[in-house]
Amino acid sequence: MKTLFDETHLGQMTLKNRFIRAAIGEKTSDGHVNETILSLYKALALGGAGALITGFTLVDENEKNFPLLAFYNDAFREGHKALTDLVHENHAHIILQLVYVGSYVRGDTAGMSVLAPSAVENLNTKVLPQEISVRQIKRIQERFSEAALRAKNAGYDGVEIHAAHGFFLSQFMTPYYNRRTDLYGASAQNRARMALETYAAVREAVGAEFPILIKINVNDGFEGEVRFEDVLYLCKALTEMKIDAIEISGAFRSFPQNATAFFKKEAAQIAAENETKIIMTGGNRDFEEMTAILRHTGIEYFGLARPLITEPDLINRFKALYT
Ligand SMILES: Cc1cc2nc3c(=O)[nH]c(=O)nc-3n(C[C@H](O)[C@H](O)[C@H](O)COP(=O)(O)O)c2cc1C
Repeated sequence: MKTLFDETHLGQMTLKNRFIRAAIGEKTSDGHVNETILSLYKALALGGAGALITGFTLVDENEKNFPLLAFYNDAFREGHKALTDLVHENHAHIILQLVYVGSYVRGDTAGMSVLAPSAVENLNTKVLPQEISVRQIKRIQERFSEAALRAKNAGYDGVEIHAAHGFFLSQFMTPYYNRRTDLYGASAQNRARMALETYAAVREAVGAEFPILIKINVNDGFEGEVRFEDVLYLCKALTEMKIDAIEISGAFRSFPQNATAFFKKEAAQIAAENETKIIMTGGNRDFEEMTAILRHTGIEYFGLARPLITEPDLINRFKALYT
């Protein structure tokens, strides 16, 4: 019978359990990995999760004003190498999450071009972006692939493409934000094209063996949100293109404090229809519930974000309590 502490293979990684620390954005004033981040990841690695996904990391210098981790050139390499070494010394795996922010930008946008699928004001930030051209689309795909290769060379065990939560890539899937009528809009195939081409570019850069994950939304929580049938199309195409895992997320902030397993229904359906590994993230709190989901659905991994902020050693505590 499957258990949450099974050793499993995710791509070429051998994970000691089915718990993954889901991404939490780290603040850094200059984009570099700093001592605070190193000590946080040491605690997380020692805390027992099989793999840690970093906070979103900028792939394009155009977005350098944001106080997030960055890896858009080799000047950031030393910090990333220190981070991967530290996590490996403490017996966990680490996956770098890659992001292009787009119109979900907070703070100073002076002097930068804020890009989105269409020129539609962002509902959260009220920023009005420019519609991205096909030439700029190709450039951003290249930035993802270059950052992924840097990540591989800096010792990361994999990368995750952030295509969830209203950031740039996810907006292509969302009819409210994507009003295009060219190859990147309108039909399910066209809306999925941006994520699929970005994945293909990253795969080309890092080779067939290096683990690539993608995080997607199954809903957005507002009118004009992503359509689930389009999500199913995207997942099928990603599976055919041999993505290593799909992390299922959505409008997580709309769930009450005591809710659990927010996206169980959608994640279970995606897992039933696709061979690739499914990570379900959002509201994973209850060990017994996760065990039941593992046994009764095809979902294989559980992402935890907020619980590990307050209890970085929660996975070790689960192990002590339940095994
Ligand atoms: C403060 C904060 C920062 C987050 N940063 C990221 C991020 O960088 N990338 C990402 O994909 N998700 C991010 N998330 C979302 C989490 O990864 C996760 O999907 C969400 O919190 C639901 O999981 P949970 O119920 O285990 O917290 C963030 C969430 C919070 C609360």
